[in-house]
Amino acid sequence: MDNKERQERKEACPLKHVAFIMDGNGRWAKKRGMPREFGHKHGAEVFDKIMRYCYEVGIGAATFYVFSTENWKRPKKEVDAIMRLLSQYLDDCKRQIKDYNARFIFLGDKAIFTEKIRKKMYEVEEMSKDNEYIVNLALNYGGRDEIAYAANKLIAEGKTNITEEDISRCVYTCESPDVDMIVRTGGDLRISNFLLWQSAYAELYFTDKLWPDFTTDDVDAVVENFKQRKRRFGGV
Ligand code: IPE
Ligand code: IPE
Ligand code: MG
Repeated sequence: MDNKERQERKEACPLKHVAFIMDGNGRWAKKRGMPREFGHKHGAEVFDKIMRYCYEVGIGAATFYVFSTENWKRPKKEVDAIMRLLSQYLDDCKRQIKDYNARFIFLGDKAIFTEKIRKKMYEVEEMSKDNEYIVNLALNYGGRDEIAYAANKLIAEGKTNITEEDISRCVYTCESPDVDMIVRTGGDLRISNFLLWQSAYAELYFTDKLWPDFTTDDVDAVVENFKQRKRRFGGV
C-alpha cells in the first residue's frame, strides 16, 4: 500500500486508536494439552498479524497489552519464556522495520528489563521513529503505575497545580490520539489495570474468543461494531 492509499484508508476509518487486551493464551494452550508458553508463542504470531492488519484497515494507532506490572507474579518458567519471545520479536522488528511502516513505542518502565532487552527496545523505538503508524506495546505496563509516573514527571517539571491536560501529555500514550475502543479477548469482563486514564470515554468490546484464535475477520467485526456506537461524551 502506498502512502496516498494509506492516508485515504486512515481518513475513512472511524476507529483512530484501538487497544487490545490480548488475553487467553494460557487457556488456549491448556485446551491443547500444552504448556502455557505454547500459547504465548501462538499469541505472539497472532499479535504480529493483527498489528499489520490494523494498518491495512486504516487504523492510525494500535496499542497491545503484552505484559503487565502484575504479570511478574507468574512462575519464573513462564516469565522467562515470555522474555525470550520478546527478545526474538525485537530482533525481528529490527530486521523488518522498513516493511512495517510502524512506529513502535513501548509503554511502561523499561528499567525492570535486562540490559540486553532494554537496549533492543530503545533501538527499535529509535529506528522506527519516523514511521506514521503508531504501535504501542505495553510492557511492564500498569495503568496506576502510569498515572504515578505522569505525576512524578510533573513534579520534576516544578508543577504545583496539575490539570487534566498535564496528565494527558505525560502518560505513556502521549504520542497517540485518544483511545476509541478497548478490545478484550478471553471472556473476562475487566480492565486489569490497562489504560485507566485513557479509558475514561473509550468504548469497550469483550469477546469470548481466546487471543490465539483472534483473526483479521474479528478486527473487521470490531470496526463494524465501533461504527454502531453512539458516543455522547456526557452530552446529548
Ligand atoms: C495473556 O494470556 C498473555 C499475558 C498476560 C502475558 P494469559 O497468559 O493471561 O492467558 P490466560 O488468561 O491464562 O488464558
Ligand atoms: C491482562 O491479562 C494482561 C495482559 C493481557 C498482558 P491477565 O491475564 O494478566 O489479567 P487478569 O489476571 O485475568 O486480570
Ligand atoms: Mg489471562
